[in-house]
Amino acid sequence: MRYSNLFIPTLRDDPAEAEAISHKLLVRAGYVRQLAAGLYIYLPLGLRVLQRINAVLKEEMDELGAQEVSMPILHPAEIWQQTGRWSEIGDEMFRLKDRGERDMCLAMTHEEIITWLAAHEIRSYRDLPQVWYQIQTKLRDEARPKSGILRTREFIMKDSYSFDRDEAGLEKNYKLHSDAYHRIFSRCGIHFYQVESDPGMMGGATAHEFMATSPAGEDKIALCTGCGYQANLEMAESRPQYIEDQNWQKEEINTPHKRTIKEVTNFMKTAPEYFIKSVLIIADTTPVLALVRGDQELHEHKLTRLVGAFRPASKDEVKNILGVEAGFIGPMCHGDIKLIADLCLKEGTYIAGANKAHYHIKGIRSGEDFEPEWADIHTARAEDRCVKCGEGLKIESAIEIGNIFKLGTKYSSALEAVYLDEDGSSKPIIMGSYGIGPARIMASAVEQGNDKNGIIWPESIAPFDLEVLPLNMKNIEAVQLAESLYLELSKLGYEVLLDNRDERAGVKLKDADLIGIPWQVVIGDRGFKEKKLEIKNRKTGEVKKLSIDTASQAIDETVRG
Ligand SMILES: Nc1ncnc2c1ncn2[C@@H]1O[C@H](COP(=O)(O)OP(=O)(O)OP(=O)(O)O)[C@@H](O)[C@H]1O
Ligand SMILES: [Mg+2]
Ligand SMILES: [Zn+2]
Repeated sequence: MRYSNLFIPTLRDDPAEAEAISHKLLVRAGYVRQLAAGLYIYLPLGLRVLQRINAVLKEEMDELGAQEVSMPILHPAEIWQQTGRWSEIGDEMFRLKDRGERDMCLAMTHEEIITWLAAHEIRSYRDLPQVWYQIQTKLRDEARPKSGILRTREFIMKDSYSFDRDEAGLEKNYKLHSDAYHRIFSRCGIHFYQVESDPGMMGGATAHEFMATSPAGEDKIALCTGCGYQANLEMAESRPQYIEDQNWQKEEINTPHKRTIKEVTNFMKTAPEYFIKSVLIIADTTPVLALVRGDQELHEHKLTRLVGAFRPASKDEVKNILGVEAGFIGPMCHGDIKLIADLCLKEGTYIAGANKAHYHIKGIRSGEDFEPEWADIHTARAEDRCVKCGEGLKIESAIEIGNIFKLGTKYSSALEAVYLDEDGSSKPIIMGSYGIGPARIMASAVEQGNDKNGIIWPESIAPFDLEVLPLNMKNIEAVQLAESLYLELSKLGYEVLLDNRDERAGVKLKDADLIGIPWQVVIGDRGFKEKKLEIKNRKTGEVKKLSIDTASQAIDETVRG
């Protein structure tokens, strides 16, 4: 395509409010524009990238035997009411009424609709298995739409759904998707990890996320360097640093006005890991006392999985429920109040609040002084050890680019998607759900591929394969050469961009680096005189001089490596 026919509004400056590199570069290089919070327009270059990613998605989905369908994005409320998600989901769902005052919503996802379809169409075990997918718009009123196209309120998702007779069938489709996802992200040039994740609002038992490492990521993942254990920090189990048991005798200590771990550790000249942090929370209406080691942080999400949504108790609630001022709570003697303690408190002798204002107690031991429910509720950290093999953990920020869920029968039971089995009995269909966000692949590629001059696209998803740059449009012969190269390379099957703008050489070269097409074919005046042109690899910066006479062939060879 000729630059003159393509709208690429590059900018000199970053958009004001942008933090993520992908956000800055995709706007500056003329790929996207923001319409309103979380709403983006894809300009010609941006759409080309998205379409190339979607083509990879489609190929790999077709390859695993999935069939493409298309479902509406406007849904009647009833179907969402039947699964309970109409009320479970809060403000994230866009809701509206039609002219007949019927409740409707916009598609956040399509489990409900696809299950409705299966409920109406699948009759017998002979109709199974099925895998259906679409590449379709989703709408979510995200609380914090930010980081450019990484988290938007309207976005495209590749979503597929599997329908099976039994667990073995689901296992197979889950594995097929996992394998396809590995191929998809590798083909798109993304550095990623597959991690264990929390099925959350999707329901179901097993789930994995695919995570592209990037500082712009809102997720954190824990990676074991020893056994390969990989999990979202929301799930990641870890063994905090080992501490020697101090075998203290029990002793009450006056700690006037020393409430926080820091104040008490300073006062008692002991390390924070020898303390028990006692945090009173209210889950629904039930108080729960959560206990973690003094140097550890309670992980909200891990605790939520055990007790449901909760909030911290107020100072007054602490006083009323535990009969002690906040800051002096200990795990001992609270009657029927539920205690949940982090596993690492099982061993050792600790200091805790004495359940008495201005006092702490030394020498507390689990089993003797308190008997909690045990769980891993601390936040895993880089200095922790892997629970599986004992090696060190690594924590990285990452962008969730895709996920796979074993749904089981959550949706099929609710929407009566059943089939008649061979023995004549009626059984709920076993389902899986699998999503990928192409915009997040696009942004992740930019997060992982850039330098101070701009974007460096992976060859597979770049908007063009090659850019031809005649630097001086007044040099008629050089321009003719550029034109003929453009035609020849296109004929060889390349997507070529010809920068035929009458701009200064500096401007053209700068824009070329900014928009990040993998190969630049540069025809300068000086080189042209010597019957030479240059091909530059955007990623490595490597420049090769080629003879003009055999240029298209030599370019083809260079690009193919
Ligand atoms: N707001 C969004 N903008 C762009 N892509 C999104 C957005 N939300 C989800 N996606 C993409 O769709 C895929 C499947 O959606 P899913 O509902 O599982 O995401 P999610 O768990 O809500 O993601 P997140 O935890 O980041 O909000 C995600 O893996 C991601 O690639
Ligand atoms: Mg979300
Ligand atoms: Zn390990």
